[in-house]
Amino acid sequence: MGTMSVSSVLIVFFFANLLRLVLGSVVSTGNFNKDFFVTWSPNHVYTSPDGHYRTLKLDQASGSSFASNEMFLFGRIDLQIKLIPNYSAGTVLAVYLTSEQPNRDEIDFEFLGNVTGQPYILQTNVYADGFDNREERIYLWFDPTKDFHTYSILWNLHQIVFMVDQVPIRVYRNHANKGAGFPRWQPMALKASLWNGDSWATRGGKDKVDWSKGPFIASLRNYKIDACVWKGNPRFCRAGSSKNWWNMPRFSSLNWTQRRLFRWVRKHHVIYDYCKDPERFQGKLPVECSLPKY
Ligand SMILES: *[C@@H]1O[C@H](CO)[C@@H](O)[C@H](O)[C@H]1NC(C)=O
Ligand SMILES: *[C@@H]1O[C@H](CO)[C@@H](O)[C@H](O)[C@H]1NC(C)=O
Ligand SMILES: *[C@@H]1O[C@H](CO)[C@@H](O)[C@H](O)[C@H]1NC(C)=O
Repeated sequence: MGTMSVSSVLIVFFFANLLRLVLGSVVSTGNFNKDFFVTWSPNHVYTSPDGHYRTLKLDQASGSSFASNEMFLFGRIDLQIKLIPNYSAGTVLAVYLTSEQPNRDEIDFEFLGNVTGQPYILQTNVYADGFDNREERIYLWFDPTKDFHTYSILWNLHQIVFMVDQVPIRVYRNHANKGAGFPRWQPMALKASLWNGDSWATRGGKDKVDWSKGPFIASLRNYKIDACVWKGNPRFCRAGSSKNWWNMPRFSSLNWTQRRLFRWVRKHHVIYDYCKDPERFQGKLPVECSLPKY
């Protein structure tokens, strides 16, 4: 390769990155040490030398957590997780986007552990303007403690899609024009935490954390954050430019393949859906429950 072409490659690279900075969208580094900081108990967080792999530990002394340096408004997050093997009852691993404001917006994955041999529950939730109570729960179609699987969130102005190995397990559509809450103004940080939730997590709190079976360790790797970095101006993040690809029309709803997979999950794997629990809402289900799901 001649000097000219090397320098033109460098120039293109330079401008591509400049454009990315100006528009605020980011493809993460893949290095936990670079994109995140530990927010709870550094000595319960292990990171591999190359930064691509991290574990969170829970023992009698403490749980652990970390959070992204940046905040994001819309984008796509992918993260591979291997859950706590064997006995994990009472533990909760949460991976979530949160705005941390009093009128909090939040998009949650929560993995609820179990006694040895019994299935984990994957709970998802969406908070909008401080209102939560939108839990859904599924049993996974594989043992999530045996191998790494990819858990993803696509979040744009039209929908939030939770995916497991690219299979959409939950869709939360933007029905704000019909009065339903939807996270669409507040930037959110990406966080992960492992903690003792044994007052409620496993069989409604019946199975407790058994410290003699600990420490409890969950593993995370190969994350990717492709999202609009918050720089104080929502217009940048709402624009449907090619940099903000997740805002493009084809990501505004599930495609045919995704709909087929989604219906399969709904039919065979959902064990709790707040929209099917009118008692909890004194008979008056939240508005989005009577609107199209996907
Ligand atoms: C989990 O249980 C299996 C079988 O009981 C055992 O062989 C394995 O060492 C245990 N793994 C851990 C991480 O404790
Ligand atoms: C744990 O196993 C029990 C018995 O199979 C099941 O009812 C429950 O849903 C499982 N998961 C959790 C988190 O409680
Ligand atoms: C549907 O969307 C998924 C995820 O974006 C993509 O991998 C797949 O190729 C799409 N399929 C069709 C038929 O468009």
